[in-house]
Amino acid sequence: MNVLLLGAGGREHALAQALRKSPTLHRFFVAPGNPGIEKLAKSVALVSEDHEAIIAFCRRQTIDLVIIGPEAPLVEGLADSLAAEEIKAFGPSEDAALLEGSKGFAKKICEIFSIPTAAYARFTDAEAAKAHLHEKGVPIVVKADGLAAGKGVVVAETMPEAEAAIDAMFAGQFGDAGNVVLLEEKLMGEEVSFFALCDGKRAVEFGSAQGYKRLGAGDTGPNTGGMGAYSPVPFMDAAMNERVMSEIVRPLVAGMAELDRPFVGVLFVGLMITAQGPKVIEFNVRFGDPETQAILPRLEQDLLPLLKACAEESLPEAPLFLSDQSAVTIVLAAKGYPENPQKGSEIRGLEKIEAMEGVIVTQAGTKRDGQKLLADGGRVLNITGIGASLEEARAKAYAAIDAIDWPEGYCRRDIGAKPAK
Ligand code: AMP
Ligand code: GLY
Repeated sequence: MNVLLLGAGGREHALAQALRKSPTLHRFFVAPGNPGIEKLAKSVALVSEDHEAIIAFCRRQTIDLVIIGPEAPLVEGLADSLAAEEIKAFGPSEDAALLEGSKGFAKKICEIFSIPTAAYARFTDAEAAKAHLHEKGVPIVVKADGLAAGKGVVVAETMPEAEAAIDAMFAGQFGDAGNVVLLEEKLMGEEVSFFALCDGKRAVEFGSAQGYKRLGAGDTGPNTGGMGAYSPVPFMDAAMNERVMSEIVRPLVAGMAELDRPFVGVLFVGLMITAQGPKVIEFNVRFGDPETQAILPRLEQDLLPLLKACAEESLPEAPLFLSDQSAVTIVLAAKGYPENPQKGSEIRGLEKIEAMEGVIVTQAGTKRDGQKLLADGGRVLNITGIGASLEEARAKAYAAIDAIDWPEGYCRRDIGAKPAK
């Protein structure tokens, strides 16, 4: 099979590592990729906005499957452009990607198909939003409707905090994403990221992970794209997984098909496991980053035919083989992340840790400069440790981190030590 993978992050590097193991993989391209992915796939200069160029490339190289990593090209309809040319893609259409592209849409879908989620109200002006706030009181969750790179959410514990968040969103802090603002009930419980592969009709559980969003140890400091993750999650046992599938994933997939928005790709459900059971916090329409880096190493079967089956509406309903081993992924960020990451420092010693047993390195924000590897982004490297227990996986990951020569890097020291909040 000839494959084109789109994306440039640690998630795509983890996907490339899994795809490389496939005996059915023939030609393998990535756009734009990064120095880590380029060791596994040929990098091509395509930008995801240029649908015409991607289509022309797929024809020239007889690409059998395009795997779309990030959300932006999905929300912008790349899968539709490819489908119109009969090029198979792993990833939802624009109509289905709205589950992530609009939180209001996601809420509406939950309402229509009785999928458990936090109570909410939707506003287009600050005054009405504040009137609702004063009626409901705090704590309350204030959300910008559109894509805001995971940053358009404020869990407000006080009135002034909630009012300031409403004002900032309507004042354009997140651009057009904040033209519509949602106010939500605050859910209490354990948070978990749940993944399912979907072919438009069927869905198969793909494991779960807990991600750590805050910058600092003990869940302090600003929100980030994610500072680490681990999988499996102890409280996600077979019974809870089945509840998530039967109360959330299957009704959603059936509902989207009924609305002529069939969901193809990976559904990433952000969940709160509350006293009443699992409730949806948000939907994402692609793999999580860095959750994927902690789940894919546990997959004990060929990923490529599964992704192809999603695109061809032929997903087998048999459960996937995920090993009982634990994986802990730690994000190494450039100092100054998220506001002002320092770029250009040199990373040494990566080869040494890549050779360590039970350690997987994925690159996210790196750049080659001759023989040197430089930091070139916020989240720069992801180090995954694999072991028989969470403790063992964690110890391996931190041992590897301690062996990297990159003084300009920063990581949380408590990933996998206790459940995230
Ligand atoms: P989101 O971008 O929707 O995933 O929200 C970011 C984070 O805000 C989530 O990971 C939760 O920790 C928190 N959050 C969002 N909505 C709620 C809610 N209704 N109740 C409690 N926490 C929430
Ligand atoms: N780590 C959260 C995300 O990928 O959105």
